[in-house]
Amino acid sequence: MAKRAVITGITGQDGSYLADLLVDKGYEVTGVVRRSSTPNLLRIEHILDRITLRPADLLDQLSLMRIVKDVRPHEFYNLAAMSFVPASWDQPLLTGEFNSQGVTRVLEAIRQVDPGIRLYQASSSEMFGRVREVPQTEMTPFYPRSPYGVSKVFAHYITVNYRESYDMYACSGILFNHESPRRGLEFVTRKVTDGVARIKLGLADHVGLGNLDACRDWGFAGDYVRAMWLMLQQDEPDDYVIATGVSHSVRKLVEVAFGHAGLDWRQHVRVDPALLRPAEVDHLIGDASKGRRVLGWEPTMSFEKLIAMMVDADLARLASSAGAGVAR
Ligand code: NAP
Ligand code: GDD
Repeated sequence: MAKRAVITGITGQDGSYLADLLVDKGYEVTGVVRRSSTPNLLRIEHILDRITLRPADLLDQLSLMRIVKDVRPHEFYNLAAMSFVPASWDQPLLTGEFNSQGVTRVLEAIRQVDPGIRLYQASSSEMFGRVREVPQTEMTPFYPRSPYGVSKVFAHYITVNYRESYDMYACSGILFNHESPRRGLEFVTRKVTDGVARIKLGLADHVGLGNLDACRDWGFAGDYVRAMWLMLQQDEPDDYVIATGVSHSVRKLVEVAFGHAGLDWRQHVRVDPALLRPAEVDHLIGDASKGRRVLGWEPTMSFEKLIAMMVDADLARLASSAGAGVAR
């Protein structure tokens, strides 16, 4: 009998890669989508005939209960969130409703319908914020620096609490930044690779950026969804840091991306103070030794290869279309 999985956030970057992985493994995949007035299924267009979509919202307890009751999944991946850090200062309450209480709603739906369902919760290295140690591990204390980071700390601890209170198989994956050609255009890697492609093709002459000194541990999203699946295949539930262990600055990202297209970034990057954040996370670098040891997880793609792949994908997309939307 095929295993059944529910994915919230299936229309997002990670949801789409996870759906690819689970479909390839023979799962029956149900994706949770919220109603929108225009189609937003671009990232999962290629597998629409192999998955089922059901409407629900993290704000709506009844819709989540209904999905869990109807599908009775073996595994539930909660990836849905307001995931763009700057937007969390604009909408701190909504961010908390989605990212914190939304997770409690998912946990309650599972607890009330079938506490045997295994849950993956998408936690974040943003929880480390103003970092207390370098590199960051599962034991590093949290010090979030944005309403987004704060909301994810609540989500992490409510997941741990339901595991300990109700003996549920609930895992919190503390994932460092992961990117791909399917990354949203507002995140810095994709903003840069899309900007490079536009400049190379004569569609733009510069890209505006904020803090070039911030450092992130960037990996490939396809590798990170494999870690999510592995977490739900163990004998015991646990929490894991997933990271490459290599950190680069935004300046280095820009150098690599423009360099790959044969461009000099100094001629095309403008620093825009309006893009600086009220409080910044300066430097993230993760230690994924536990994930490597217990899950047997390894990242497969270097930073340079990842950025080159993203630039090439944006060049191909923009060269062959009017340039709207996200690449598959
Ligand atoms: P993403 O591309 O922004 O996708 C977010 C998804 O959440 C979309 O499918 C969105 O649906 C959905 N969503 C948002 N609010 C919802 C609601 N109220 N009800 C139902 N669905 C809702 O994000 P991502 O990069 O794939 O990240 C996936 C998860 O991992 C997020 O929880 C994020 O916070 C976390 N995370 C990401 C990273 C990273 O580097 N990518 C690192 C650590 C943790 P619409 O299409 O309708 O907007
Ligand atoms: N987005 C953006 N746009 N970021 C910029 C820009 C810009 O123009 N210029 C500099 N940056 C810097 C930001 O200040 C930040 O330090 C860094 O680039 C990365 O920003 P994002 O790509 O927006 O990602 P993030 O690190 O804030 O958050 C992402 O990773 C988290 C995991 O650490 C998101 O995917 C979160 O959902 C995720 O939890």
